[in-house]
Amino acid sequence: MANVIVVGAQFGDEGKAKVTDLLAKNADFVVRYQGGANAGHTVVVDGDTYKFHLIPSGILYGGTTCILGPGMVIDPQAFIGELDALLKRGLDDSSLKVSACAHVTMPYHLAIDAAEEESRGAHKIGTTKRGIGPTYADKCARSGIRVEDLLSAEALRQKLDWLVPRKNVILERLYNLPPLDGKEILETYLAYGEKMRKYVCDTSAIIFQAVQQRKNILFEGAQGTLLDLDHGSYPYVTSSSPSAGGACVGAGVGPTIIDRVIGVSKAFMTRVGEGPFPTEQAGAIGEKLRQVGKAWAEVGVTTGRPRRCGWFDCVVGRYSVRINGLDCLAITKLDVLDEFDEIKICVAYRDCATGDVYKDLPSIAGSFGAMEPVFETFPGWQKSTSECRSYNDLPSAAQRYLNFIAEQLDVPVAIVSVGQKRDQTIIIEDPIHGPKRVLSRAAAGL
Ligand code: GDP
Ligand code: IMO
Ligand code: MG
Repeated sequence: MANVIVVGAQFGDEGKAKVTDLLAKNADFVVRYQGGANAGHTVVVDGDTYKFHLIPSGILYGGTTCILGPGMVIDPQAFIGELDALLKRGLDDSSLKVSACAHVTMPYHLAIDAAEEESRGAHKIGTTKRGIGPTYADKCARSGIRVEDLLSAEALRQKLDWLVPRKNVILERLYNLPPLDGKEILETYLAYGEKMRKYVCDTSAIIFQAVQQRKNILFEGAQGTLLDLDHGSYPYVTSSSPSAGGACVGAGVGPTIIDRVIGVSKAFMTRVGEGPFPTEQAGAIGEKLRQVGKAWAEVGVTTGRPRRCGWFDCVVGRYSVRINGLDCLAITKLDVLDEFDEIKICVAYRDCATGDVYKDLPSIAGSFGAMEPVFETFPGWQKSTSECRSYNDLPSAAQRYLNFIAEQLDVPVAIVSVGQKRDQTIIIEDPIHGPKRVLSRAAAGL
């Protein structure tokens, strides 16, 4: 294989875990580089469903080293709960590693996330309330607790003595909430530290050694490009860097070791939480996209919230190609479109105020929400694709739809997923060793 980043190319929940799981078969390492328990990653193997939040989905393969990287934020209670559940199902934790430098989500982060959301009223972000924003905010303010602090009573006591009274001022005075007990937090989190101790190490050093030994490393993104703190639909974003650049910072590797970036997109689009979503279909079409096949209805894995659904957006797609330098695409959930008699695809945005048409996101912060989609309509194929195993098996209308996406985004579609199961996958071209995108038609001036 090679050193590969798998990144969400839309608003999260693109089916990254299914694609990571497929590629992890040939990986020696799977590394999560950002985010925390806000992620909800589903993998279905032999009829068993696994839902991951913090632990890399690569743990399903016995020999793969799974790393929670320094760019992550880890809620120890969630980590231990998730791990215990996986151990009960017979999975092996001998190759699980947690970065000593990852930041820890503390009880005050959870409380402040919920209280801040509440106080925003109509302007809420719709967070997962997993304490993500406040944990990263403390990290940037240099007031965070790192995993290494959970291993030292002295270090943790000293930090909590300073932090808890300050957090309590916020909780009590700003939000009228009860204060937290610093001593109780100290005892509880030191106990978590003891449970985590055997996994904690310098993960960046381990990855560097693996690079030198020419191991295959898969960097597993959480969330998606449009939720990226810098490049997403700010402020309706998460507080980390899910995009490909974030993999280097968040894992502690140099960009020179990355061979390939694979973007994962649904064949349509979903979003959980608030924020602009130009191709959203609020009515019957959205409901149909959400409900097709009860088993994979569009419901958030972490929060159980219904996902907002809409048509595929090439403007967002082109933006993701740019921000991540995508080499190829994995398109998931093609089967969900099987029953539609017509399928729309957004090729550009029209500014509602001026009528101007844009093929690229003009300014993601300000004008994204004021855009209406310019759609092209495709005939549906109205045949099941879930048994298709090659490009040639696909109905010609489905082939045309995929080719259109590849043309619009100017990247090849390498993988197509037609169901939750591992074998419900079509490999159109080698996702790892194909030609670099920069040699595409556009780059060649054609
Ligand atoms: P992630 O967060 O990007 O890993 O995605 P989620 O796990 O949150 O959501 C994707 C959902 O779609 C999961 O329930 C997957 O099992 C499911 N899924 C992935 N690929 C396909 C597919 O090709 N067809 C169908 N029907 N479901 C899929
Ligand atoms: P995976 O990895 C979809 C969304 C939330 C909210 C915003 C900020 O499964 O793709 P946060 O709790 O991070 O502060 O919430 O980001 N969000 C996700 N949406 N998939 C996710 O993860 C998400 N993680 C966060 O709904 O809009
Ligand atoms: Mg998800």
